[in-house]
Amino acid sequence: MSKDTDSAFQKCIDPQCAAEFDCAEILFKCPKCGELLDIIYRWDKIEVPAKMSDFAKRWSSRDDRLDFSGVWRFRELLDFCGDEHKVTIGEGQTILQQNDDLAKQLDIDPGRLFLQYEGFNPSGSFKDNGMAAAFSHAVMVGAKASACASTGNTSASMAMYAHSCGLKCTVFIGSGRIAFGKLSQAMDYGGHTIQILGDFDDCMRHVQDVCTKLGIYLVNSLNPFRLEGQKAIMYRIIEQLGWQVPDWIIVPGGNLGNSSAFGKAFTELKQLGLIDRIPRLAIVNAAGASTLSDLFNDKKLRWNNGKVERSVIDDYYADLTARNFSPHTCASAIEISRPVNLKKCLRALEVCNGVVLAVTDAEILDAKAQIGKYGLGCEPASAATIAGLKHLRADGVIGQDEVVACVLTGHELKDPNVTVNYHKDKQGQFSNPPTEAPNDLNEIIKLIK
Ligand code: F0G
Repeated sequence: MSKDTDSAFQKCIDPQCAAEFDCAEILFKCPKCGELLDIIYRWDKIEVPAKMSDFAKRWSSRDDRLDFSGVWRFRELLDFCGDEHKVTIGEGQTILQQNDDLAKQLDIDPGRLFLQYEGFNPSGSFKDNGMAAAFSHAVMVGAKASACASTGNTSASMAMYAHSCGLKCTVFIGSGRIAFGKLSQAMDYGGHTIQILGDFDDCMRHVQDVCTKLGIYLVNSLNPFRLEGQKAIMYRIIEQLGWQVPDWIIVPGGNLGNSSAFGKAFTELKQLGLIDRIPRLAIVNAAGASTLSDLFNDKKLRWNNGKVERSVIDDYYADLTARNFSPHTCASAIEISRPVNLKKCLRALEVCNGVVLAVTDAEILDAKAQIGKYGLGCEPASAATIAGLKHLRADGVIGQDEVVACVLTGHELKDPNVTVNYHKDKQGQFSNPPTEAPNDLNEIIKLIK
């Protein structure tokens, strides 16, 4: 029997409004006040395990598609639709790597630094966690077409999932603002790609209007069901730490969906008594797209029990518009200046006693090369985590003996151009350029170090 919509509902995040809606409704904003929506669970109707380690029983039934999924094996924690609607393509087979070599470089004790490789997902980024959930909802409500604005990874992931469950899909990208690995995926998976002469923020604005006008299902992180899937990244980190929580989670900040989802995951786990403490959260912006850092650190904007000072955000955006500002960073995935999940992220920062910082492109590129050399590689945006961690260690915010998990959001091969240029052009401390050799064996041998 389907238990669709029985154990969950949608609710406006603004405590003043707090309007509630059925999960069967397709919404990406509160129809009453325009704020973001949350998925709220009626926990008394859900058989939640008594402890996190109870989820380990699913490892022995990995031939079941839902138990195999790194999202749905935690399904009691995102119980908004019946099993018959759950979509999976095998997402979430990701690893948490203990990396003592990198830890040593950052003056962190052995056994304390962990890298969560979300690039190992089917489409090569963390987005697949969210798409498994969003497309389950899309299937549940009978949607026929999907759309998103994207800096690349959302589009690749959406196209892969849309294809797998028979929905049409349209991708909006800023012309010239997307890494080729990602663009190639969206095209290859059959997405209709519309390149707009603008940046991500322009695409985000347009896609919302298009979806409203044409009744298309929006899968950007405005969609509250998508963020439910992204909570699973935190469940897997806890799982791989032997069901312990780390001291710190570090994540790059773009549209701020991940950070919002992580805060919600920890709030719920604590409320359910499945964890005894909430880790601290560090969100790292690129300096060329530093809205969160500017608002949180300079303007002191806070969640403030849901009474976020709207005028501070409006003034900041008005200034961006007046200056005709468009964000720029080599980490194109997080080249975003009007993050749609800003308020949810402020809430997560409060819950997790979080910090925010911004790092330069040069710092991102050096950190990326270190992750490549000592780890398994990642795309530029993901390396903002290690670049940020260097600052947090230097400033004494993170101690040498604290357990830190960095979320490496995208695969190394998403953006090979950035990698090749860094090494070839000897741009940084860790550049490893190729050596030119004549077509002659003796000369080649002389060059071997
Ligand atoms: N890292 C990668 C690799 C990303 O692709 C993104 C976002 C982020 C970090 C930022 O995550 O939005 O949750 O703060 N990419 C989106 C896209 C915007 O369209 O692919 P966030």
